[in-house]
Amino acid sequence: MGRSTPIEPLNRPLADGVVAVRSRRASDLPAIEAASHDPETLRWLDDTPMEPADRGTSLSRVEEAWRTGRAAPLVVADATTDEPVGIINLQFRDDAVATVAYSVFPAHRGRGIAPRAVQLLAGWALDGLGLTQLLLEAAEDNTASVRVAEKCGFERIASRVEPRAEGPHTMLVFACTKG
Ligand SMILES: CC(C)(COP(=O)(O)OP(=O)(O)OC[C@H]1O[C@@H](n2cnc3c(N)ncnc32)[C@H](O)[C@@H]1OP(=O)(O)O)[C@@H](O)C(=O)NCCC(=O)NCCS
Repeated sequence: MGRSTPIEPLNRPLADGVVAVRSRRASDLPAIEAASHDPETLRWLDDTPMEPADRGTSLSRVEEAWRTGRAAPLVVADATTDEPVGIINLQFRDDAVATVAYSVFPAHRGRGIAPRAVQLLAGWALDGLGLTQLLLEAAEDNTASVRVAEKCGFERIASRVEPRAEGPHTMLVFACTKG
């Protein structure tokens, strides 16, 4: 899993006047850490909650993900204030395909931030990085995330049932393909 070459750092934010998608900074870490304990985020994402002790290594792990071509972890920020309002991440399968994953911090949900961020990231991935397909996976009962996929024009291409402690879980796979 991953790209055969490293990814060029994102030197300038991707922005649409409302939302910016940019590199992560040390000053973002307290907000990222607080949101990582949000029950909705824990319910739908596999990420381990972040503790204060993780702050020291967090940015070096981000840098390692970019350098090795494994992933591009980014922040979603308010385009006016630069305040972090969420996180978004591209996980590369290979040189052509990546999966997008995202979370908007609880206080900022319901304002169309995730669809804007996904569209900015999709433009960069497909036009800038030359990927041919972006995948987005959401649990069938994660209505908010399924709506994000639909509002961004992703098409449902597959589903799979995953075993979970609380019972089988259906994951929907959406795709946005260049061309
Ligand atoms: C999924 C998520 C990223 C959506 O981000 P967002 O910026 O709130 O997205 P939108 O504002 O476009 O809202 C999407 C849907 O969320 C629901 N919603 C609306 N207001 C909401 C609120 N205050 N809180 C939660 N969900 C809300 C609606 O179903 C909305 O769809 P609609 O526009 O058709 O009404 C966000 O809810 C989140 O971070 N959830 C927890 C983590 C997660 O599930 N990540 C995705 C894993 S695949």
